[in-house]
Amino acid sequence: VAEEAAEEVDVTGKLVGVAMPTKDLQRWIQDGENMKAQLEAAGYEVDLQYAANDIQTQVSQIENMIANGCKALVIASIDGEALGTVLAQAKEAGIPVIAYDRLIMNSDAVSYYATFDNWDVGVKQGTYIAEALDLANAGDKTYNIEFITGDPGDNNINFFFDGAMSVLQPYLDNGKLVCVSGQTDFETVATPAWKSETAQARMDNILAGYYADALTGGQTLDICLCSNDSTALGVTNSLVAFGYTAENIPVITGQDCDIANTKNMVKGLQAMSVFKDTRALAEATVKMVGEILAGAEVEVNATYANGVKDVASFNCTPVFADVSNYVELLIDSGYYTAEDLAVTE
Ligand code: BGC
Repeated sequence: VAEEAAEEVDVTGKLVGVAMPTKDLQRWIQDGENMKAQLEAAGYEVDLQYAANDIQTQVSQIENMIANGCKALVIASIDGEALGTVLAQAKEAGIPVIAYDRLIMNSDAVSYYATFDNWDVGVKQGTYIAEALDLANAGDKTYNIEFITGDPGDNNINFFFDGAMSVLQPYLDNGKLVCVSGQTDFETVATPAWKSETAQARMDNILAGYYADALTGGQTLDICLCSNDSTALGVTNSLVAFGYTAENIPVITGQDCDIANTKNMVKGLQAMSVFKDTRALAEATVKMVGEILAGAEVEVNATYANGVKDVASFNCTPVFADVSNYVELLIDSGYYTAEDLAVTE
């Protein structure tokens, strides 16, 4: 019996293709390393590729993985809409596809999805803002807010933004929150490729156009809802260049607990982030690969519509992070070393 069971789940040497979007962002490096290490520990061969945020490169990498006979594909897409054709090839070849972190849209070849509860990421950001400024008891006081989201091809941005808005919209409606620039539509608040430089340039323009006198008694900027840390970093750089310091910088949100951003939290330059432990996501995904290849029941706890099908998903839990808990969350847990996060300047 033991032998039979072992045979059923023997994955030794089975090739798993892991397609990651970019090495620009720390989290994807950790995601890739964690996936590779955990898959190899389970006996799989791993083909891990990064695509430098270039859609065509990612498509070619996935084609190669299919040609090389991979038994499963794990894909963190660059553009969730762009993989239909290559995934049709995967389906044709009978290769199961797990969408990793980002949902792959409009393809019936997606077998499962493993991610964090991305709506909850946004809710955590929105809730932080509402509580930090005590919006529920703001009286006549109003606060000015600007919005900075991520890549328009990344389905996650809708969850981050809508989750935050589920908390903040009532305060925009009753006038406690004011977006002075008026920039609230999807395309304008988006940050292509989640680039810090792009977020920084946009914030430079917003400051020059609407808050030029903010530090000399004019209209203040109180809040920047940034969907992640790479955009928060650009916004912070812009605000610091403008003259803001830890004493008067607007409330800035983020997510990922990137090293530079965690240091900014310690320095008082970013209010909060959301920690998504990539080790947990890798673990959930490796477990999913094993269940799929063993023909076993796949443990899921959510469902997402991708345009053509409902994709069963396993959602990991994001965790609020700020200066008060980062040591426990990030250093004591072994995610980073104390040296990684040491603030020297
Ligand atoms: C991920 C975030 C990340 C962003 C930029 C999103 O899809 O969920 O964690 O910050 O992409 O890479």
